[in-house]
Amino acid sequence: MDNIINPFSPNAGSRPPELAGREDIFRDVRVFLGRLPTGRSVQSLLFTGLRGVGKTVLLNEIVHMAERQGNVLPIYLEASEARSLGAMLASPLRLALLKLDRMKGTGAKVRSGLSVLRNFLGTIKVSFGGVGFELEPATGRADSGDLQFDLTELLVAVAEAAAERQMGVVLLIDEIQYVTEPEFGALVMALHRIQQLGLPLAMAGAGLPTLPGLAGEAKSYAERLFTYPVIGALSKEASVLAIRRPFLDAGVEVEDSAADTVYRRSGGYPYFIQEWGYQLWNFVEGGPVTATDAEMVDEIVSRQLDGNFFRVRMERLTPSEKSFLRAMSQIGGERIRMADISRNLGISVNALGPRRSSLVKRGMIYSPSHGLVAFTVPLFDEFLRRNPV
Ligand SMILES: Nc1ncnc2c1ncn2[C@@H]1O[C@H](COP(=O)(O)OP(=O)(O)O)[C@@H](O)[C@H]1O
Ligand SMILES: [Mg+2]
Repeated sequence: MDNIINPFSPNAGSRPPELAGREDIFRDVRVFLGRLPTGRSVQSLLFTGLRGVGKTVLLNEIVHMAERQGNVLPIYLEASEARSLGAMLASPLRLALLKLDRMKGTGAKVRSGLSVLRNFLGTIKVSFGGVGFELEPATGRADSGDLQFDLTELLVAVAEAAAERQMGVVLLIDEIQYVTEPEFGALVMALHRIQQLGLPLAMAGAGLPTLPGLAGEAKSYAERLFTYPVIGALSKEASVLAIRRPFLDAGVEVEDSAADTVYRRSGGYPYFIQEWGYQLWNFVEGGPVTATDAEMVDEIVSRQLDGNFFRVRMERLTPSEKSFLRAMSQIGGERIRMADISRNLGISVNALGPRRSSLVKRGMIYSPSHGLVAFTVPLFDEFLRRNPV
């Protein structure tokens, strides 16, 4: 069929033609967004899941839902290994305050929000195209140099500015596993304070199954402040819908047996389903799509996934990191014991520590519990077994 109008979207963060199997989550999100601007308490959301399950798509969808609703301002940012949380927040928070400033009303809180932001920028030493420098600094707010206090002051100021406009704010943070432990702790304390004050700001974050660790007070608050919806592979029913619906919209049937092959081979993982749909669409002349078509496309899909999804992740690694992952794939299973990797490589568990932590830091593996590791990329072990070098 015509490649130009191929609706499937095997790309990070691209909205799929059929956003299947997430109804329960959207139901919860609607309640969350509905309550937020009223100042009623809401629990922040922290979505966790492997790579390619649709976390970014979900956050983007929440941005759209907030925009459609009209009284919740979405603030979106993607965390990275390279930048501090403060530096990442500054620009989107400034934009949000400017948006609030343009809305009707007196806006005293908005202006004080901008002053607080100015102080905050001073503490994190970011020079920033004249942010609020025409404003008097708000003495004593967000300028202590202690991230926990300053971030709280800043987010409280933003939340107050929003409340003044009868707006809510949802702070969307993608790839939240890259936020460091002290930064995440500071964020938790800030959200806790905001909740105590009954202000309309909450977070919807997404990240790999290991979230930043927390200690002390922050840890006990986090348990009450957040819900942790797990985003996983799609059910069989949802997978079939995800593959079938876009074809049906073009008037083409997908036979049960073909949909079944896609479900089995993709494991229900959204990224893989999109790749299957994309290749099937380009391969078939018209309908119905049969199991034979699926068999024929299987090799193309594997080649594409190996090239685009898997290999790029391998290329960034050092030889010793690669050997660690290969050992994991040889041992097999979802959760792999460090002790088994140690035996496989003939290296002590202690000596493996640095590789293990650099792979966690790079987001290649995570630790589901003490002494265990797992891949963050679904079916990565199969890829490594297919491509032994
Ligand atoms: N519910 C869904 N149904 C079908 N495809 C989906 C769904 N959610 C996401 N996708 C597709 O999966 C791929 C990965 O989505 P993305 O949001 O980038 O995942 P993550 O952020 O978890 O790595 C994209 O190609 C997207 O179009
Ligand atoms: Mg993502």
